[in-house]
Amino acid sequence: MNASLAYSSVFLVVATLSVGSPAAAHGPSGHHETATAAQDEEAMKAQHARMENLEDAMVALNNAVIHGEKTDAGKHAVRLTEALKGHEKDTPHKNVSRVKEFQAFYGEMKKRTAKLAADAGTGNLRNTSLSYGRVLEVCASCHAKFRD
Ligand code: HEC
Repeated sequence: MNASLAYSSVFLVVATLSVGSPAAAHGPSGHHETATAAQDEEAMKAQHARMENLEDAMVALNNAVIHGEKTDAGKHAVRLTEALKGHEKDTPHKNVSRVKEFQAFYGEMKKRTAKLAADAGTGNLRNTSLSYGRVLEVCASCHAKFRD
């Protein structure tokens, strides 16, 4: 498990470098290979935690809308925007060389979660539910291309 994780981390770094993404320039050049692997493992954990936070916030927001809890809806919409912070180091699990396209989904996600937070902030749950669907669409699109 550790060996295959380390292997895939090295592979990801090579793939990232080969497309010349700015994401590859996150540390001092020439640092030790094991340090890079550890850094990547940490980034992978952060990405995994982000996905769980996104899921929790989406489920909670969905329930708040269903139960007509406007204050909670606003709170969970803000949680979504916060869960995105630090996404720049995230990487795809398949189509691994297409990092720019992968990150573009986060760009779209930022726009749509900002709109969702604005709608939830007004207490209009109908608009909130429409914006919610637009956010969910980005989850599904990114998963289809880069996870599943
Ligand atoms: C930029 C692409 C991208 C976006 C946008 C995205 N995801 Fe993910 N998601 C992934 C990838 C890649 C994985 C597999 C790697 C992982 O689990 O970290 C994943 C995994 C997950 C998982 C499984 C975590 C686990 O237990 O392994 C959940 C749950 C999840 N995403 C929820 C969401 C939700 C909810 C949204 C939208 C609010 C979302 N994701 C948006 C790329 C994305």
